[in-house]
Amino acid sequence: MNVATPLELSEETLRRMLGLATDRIVAFTKDIPNQPVDTSSAMNAAELVLEPIPRDPVDIECLLDDVFDQATRASLNPVSPGFMGYVPGGGLLHAGVADLVANALNRYIGVARIAPALSQMEASVISWFCEIMGYPTSARGFLTSGGSLANLSAVVTARHTKLGDDFSRGVIYVSDQVHHCIDKAARIAGFADTQLRVLPTDSRFRLDAETVADAIEQDRAQGLEPFLLIASAGTTNTGAVDPLDALADLADEEDLWFHVDGAYGGFFRMTERGKAILRGIERADSVVLDPHKSLFLPYGTGALLVRNGQHLKATHSSAADYLPDLQDHDEVVDFCEISPELTRPFRGLRVWLPMKMHGIDAFRDCLDEKLDLANWIQEQIAVLPDIELVAKADLSILAFVVKGSDRHSMNTRTRNLIEFINQKNRVHLTGTRIDGTFAIRIAVVSYRTHLDRMEMLLEDLQDGLRVC
Ligand SMILES: Cc1ncc(COP(=O)(O)O)c(C=O)c1O
Repeated sequence: MNVATPLELSEETLRRMLGLATDRIVAFTKDIPNQPVDTSSAMNAAELVLEPIPRDPVDIECLLDDVFDQATRASLNPVSPGFMGYVPGGGLLHAGVADLVANALNRYIGVARIAPALSQMEASVISWFCEIMGYPTSARGFLTSGGSLANLSAVVTARHTKLGDDFSRGVIYVSDQVHHCIDKAARIAGFADTQLRVLPTDSRFRLDAETVADAIEQDRAQGLEPFLLIASAGTTNTGAVDPLDALADLADEEDLWFHVDGAYGGFFRMTERGKAILRGIERADSVVLDPHKSLFLPYGTGALLVRNGQHLKATHSSAADYLPDLQDHDEVVDFCEISPELTRPFRGLRVWLPMKMHGIDAFRDCLDEKLDLANWIQEQIAVLPDIELVAKADLSILAFVVKGSDRHSMNTRTRNLIEFINQKNRVHLTGTRIDGTFAIRIAVVSYRTHLDRMEMLLEDLQDGLRVC
């Protein structure tokens, strides 16, 4: 019996859906330069109540209206060229097209035998990332939903490789600037808070190798097992890059797993300046990258690379009778064997497509531009009498405060300034707390941000200083 259900789209309905969505997306994208950066308070929160389960069909056009005209209206706008809060990326639309194609194909990517060439596309993406990081061909890795889960898998891989089953005496070393997802990862991986050694940083928010060496010595004297040193290649707070080469030396001497969280900064290794400041990242046992930050993808893509791919397999491999045969060829990757997921989306395509379409130089040039823009704004604000740069840009994030007679007045003036700038709605900045003082961050990462928007920021900043 052949009974068509409404869930099977007719060609006409499919074409209409795609056409309507395409029209909406094209109009939305054309308008991006004019869109405000923050409309999160545009709707009354009461309008955002949970809806009951839908019973009657609703036409796609109304549903797209709901998404584009209603729900999206109340939001921060990370696709805007003026979005310089947190760590932006912009969201390459190519990845949206790739997701649509990947979802239409709906192929199984966890086991290579089922869709070998498609699995290999993700493996290719990983090998390109390895090349960018200066990793050997024995390195392996996988794409995740973001940096947090990639860091979690790094901690678990380090734990399994260095400590085996009994990790009750293991100690992890991080700086007080490390991303909070590392604390979470350590906890989820089974470590008590007392097994995470959070160390103070120097005047440029970097983790000094001697500080770590002292802590390791003390812990060994207590009979503990130092096993993992985590460095940041671009902290979220101030963009600081730890001295990776010196930390790699220390990890070597002490036989620790050396992990680098390069979620924000790692891809800057494509540029000459980035390569210089990230020197030593190529010596890490593992590196996390976030393509949804400095490779400009839409949210939903992180990556973990591990220098010796065998460690990934030893940590994650697990057999089951109902699975098809897995590969034993070194060149072919069964992602279920080297990562926590079995069924997984075809994430590779959203990276593969834009990289193949444009080639690597387009990404490198874009990152170079971000370094120039961060430098430019830094030079402009460094000469403003009321501003104190508290964190210079190692890469493309910097932080500053407004001067004041005491901490209270500094905090008040700095908060007033960020509010002034954000209310102008041409640029959106976010703040942080540095040694107890409120500071404004500027994160220049989006591929859509160019000099014109930086000039707007400078204008708003100068106007703000006159009144705050
Ligand atoms: C340095 C750093 N590490 C890790 C993360 C967490 O990544 P995600 O938000 O993709 O989970 C971030 C996010 O901003 C980050 O900046």
